[in-house]
Amino acid sequence: EPKKLWGGRFTGAVDPLMDAFNASIHFDRRMYAADCIGSIAYCKALAKNNIITEEERDQLIGGLEKVMAEWDNKTFELKAGDEDIHTANERRLGELVGSVAGKLHTGRSRNDQVATDMRIWLRDEASSILAHLKELISITVARADKEIDVLMPGYTHLQRAQPIRWSHFLLSHAWLWQADAQRLEQLIDRLNVLPLGSGALAGHAFNIDRDFLAKELGFHSTINNSLYAVSDRDFVAEFLFWASLTMVHISRIAEDLIIYSSGEFGFVKLADAYSTGSSLMPQKKNPDSLELLRGKSGRVFGSMSGFMMSYKGIPSTYNKDLQEDKEPMFDAADTLSGSLQITAGVLSTMNIFPEKMRASLTADMLATDLAEYLVRKGVPFRETHHISGAAVKLAEDRQVSLHELSNDDFKSLHPSFDDDVSSVWSFETSIENRNTPGGTSKSSVTAQIQQLKSWLSAG
Ligand code: ARG
Repeated sequence: EPKKLWGGRFTGAVDPLMDAFNASIHFDRRMYAADCIGSIAYCKALAKNNIITEEERDQLIGGLEKVMAEWDNKTFELKAGDEDIHTANERRLGELVGSVAGKLHTGRSRNDQVATDMRIWLRDEASSILAHLKELISITVARADKEIDVLMPGYTHLQRAQPIRWSHFLLSHAWLWQADAQRLEQLIDRLNVLPLGSGALAGHAFNIDRDFLAKELGFHSTINNSLYAVSDRDFVAEFLFWASLTMVHISRIAEDLIIYSSGEFGFVKLADAYSTGSSLMPQKKNPDSLELLRGKSGRVFGSMSGFMMSYKGIPSTYNKDLQEDKEPMFDAADTLSGSLQITAGVLSTMNIFPEKMRASLTADMLATDLAEYLVRKGVPFRETHHISGAAVKLAEDRQVSLHELSNDDFKSLHPSFDDDVSSVWSFETSIENRNTPGGTSKSSVTAQIQQLKSWLSAG
């Protein structure tokens, strides 16, 4: 029977099922580096306060570096009784450096330790997710830049609405992602406060220098209340909110592109690298990458709602319910990391069919421009809306396209129509008229590209 770290007062054996039920090592081993780094800093702080000698400190640090190296090169051997990453590392440290290992945990609890490990882990992981997100934005912006002259139908209710630039559509997603990136940066900053030095719940009995610890571990400050420090997992919740919203954004562009890649639209075609075939129908090329992205948004939201349900109602400070915080955090991080890279891959390799987009533009999409033509002649907009509507109806009744009505037809609808009404029948003009900031004109879209590029290059 291996000795339990916390076994002093226990006499009865634990049900082996309970051992397995209690263990978190199979998932929290992912935090081995954070755990070793946290312990190394903790050794330095202990020596600084003469709780251990400098020699002991160096022995401990040497041992911890070996433990970390074993994990790194996959030679760390788990043993029965390695309940979680903290106990496993301490057990191995003891084997490597002997009884001095027993001094490492002085004043520390797994409660402040695990909270610290998780913040270190998430801080680093979130930074790499942020890099993937910025790469996705950069790919989208580059594509928008290159394909700025491509025109397409813009939709509301999935019904053709007004002509827009394809780049304007692409950038509408890039802007959502920019807001996601800013929120992620802010949450990384908020979570970067140190719980270590809070003990189990009541504080540290050996006057450890928490500011020193914070500095050593790259935290900008320490958490101000020890009870709060060991019970707070708001940073996990916030990350899961963030991940859920970002995946909702991914699911929406995925849905757009699934629709655009259907035979009926034919605006885009996914690269083979991001599609799959059918086991039965030889002609099929399915946008599985996009469907998975859309589906995984549900999975991440599930992690968030599952965690929130475990988190609610937990009494103050540490309770074992909190061990349920890690798997949703890991799973959401993995899903986001994968999804952002796949989305970037899809967007950078996809083919577009500008002729097909252009061919889907129809004259009725200029009905608003027709009303605006009359506005420019001084007719109040509410009236022009009706007049243009009457023109649409007339064309429909005659089964012709709106621009096929004659100048006399228009003049019969309102005296302000002139022979220059034919100038309305240009998709380019419609688009270029929308040249305020945020519009779809070339200059407005170019400005958006510049804004996003300078945000990206600012770091
Ligand atoms: N494996 C535990 C967790 O993830 C570490 C903290 C254990 N603390 C305790 N008092 N049992 O939450």
